[in-house]
Amino acid sequence: MSDRDSWISNLGFVLAAVGGAAGLGNIWRFPWLTAGNGGSAFLIVYLLVVVGIGVPGLLAEFVLGRCGRQTPTAALRSLTGSRWGSWLGAFNVLTTLVILSFYSVVGGWILRYTLVSPVGTYFGQPQQYFGAMSFGLEAVAFHLLFLGIVAAIVFFGISNGIERVSKVMLPGVVIILLGLAVWTATQPGTAAGYAFYLSFDAEYLAANFLSVIGPAAGQALFTLSLGAGVMLTYASYLDDNASLPRDTLVIAVSNTFIGVLAGLVVIPLLFSQGVDPGQGGPGALFVALATAFATLPGGELVATAFFVTVLMAAVTSGISLLETPVATLVDSFGVPRRRATVLVSVLLAATGSGLALTSSVFQFVSGTLADLMLTVGLFAFTVIVGWLLRGDALAEFRAGTARFEWLAKPWLLTVSWVLPVVVLFLLTNTLASLAG
Ligand code: PFF
Repeated sequence: MSDRDSWISNLGFVLAAVGGAAGLGNIWRFPWLTAGNGGSAFLIVYLLVVVGIGVPGLLAEFVLGRCGRQTPTAALRSLTGSRWGSWLGAFNVLTTLVILSFYSVVGGWILRYTLVSPVGTYFGQPQQYFGAMSFGLEAVAFHLLFLGIVAAIVFFGISNGIERVSKVMLPGVVIILLGLAVWTATQPGTAAGYAFYLSFDAEYLAANFLSVIGPAAGQALFTLSLGAGVMLTYASYLDDNASLPRDTLVIAVSNTFIGVLAGLVVIPLLFSQGVDPGQGGPGALFVALATAFATLPGGELVATAFFVTVLMAAVTSGISLLETPVATLVDSFGVPRRRATVLVSVLLAATGSGLALTSSVFQFVSGTLADLMLTVGLFAFTVIVGWLLRGDALAEFRAGTARFEWLAKPWLLTVSWVLPVVVLFLLTNTLASLAG
């Protein structure tokens, strides 16, 4: 596989992986989940789950990627020595296609808000604007545009496309978010938002722990892109010198930082406008934020900066999702990368358009189905790493550095016992919500 593309530098890999992880999940899903689940209580449980489950899970997926040095179908086949491995890999590829289909529709909404924010088109009637543009032919058009941007990057491959773009966009996301967080702190009426988000409410937590843990764990997996083979694919382009535990920590911490930072912008802003951020779920965030921007001084500028940030974050995640099916066609079927990119994009253009036209299917796919597929994928990964590979997994853990040796065995224990149990619990939760 000497002609296989690879990262130019380890930093490039880290930036691309953080870019893949930090996306709509951080800036759009995290604030409204936090707002709807008790603010600080959710934040604490979420942070605990990221450390206890997310970090070991991410490391497990990286181990599979670098151990297999292939895309999911081929890697899992050779690592498990069974045809089931190929099926699991194919399931991963399907997962990325399902997620990108709806992700690209939301990416299209963001693209549209980015373009009209400088003139504040939606400032007068945020609710009607969102209602009119979110599903229908315009939503299809903007989904296609967003997908086109993502495809244009993947077209150029790992080092020339994904790595280059991530090196610019990810720092851009962090810098603008930092600026917005500082600006938010200078706005009147934000104190209640900070208190809700950051003060530790032990009573709420004790009373609601069981209802908070499910969404917190689901968000931890979604935000770290676990269970879809996307992180596996990115790690397959790494060489032996990279230390997987070190990279995992840097990536998980950076991704969490971006989510928490987004919360520091969104939640106080909503409170400052008297908008109840817990009301009405994902679509409401667009409406509530638009309301906030409309009434703030310099709202057009702030709104534009905000949506540019979300757009860049969504693009770097979109490319990680597209890379997995494209690389699978390249690695396993010998299709040239450019042709593979076009083929997969045409398919996604169709599936995403379907979702952009039917909001009920969109709701199901972006909620239950995505969660279900990611948890099934992650469950299989933990079983392979924790029960099948074991010694080989530890060797991958140790490659590149001896600094994390004390964590090696506890990590494997966590992957073998804790992760499968927690992931099964999540799976049951999702299935129960489906039945109920
Ligand atoms: N982690 C991305 C986000 O937070 O927006 C979403 C995502 C990307 C989930 C890739 C799963 C995945 F495989």
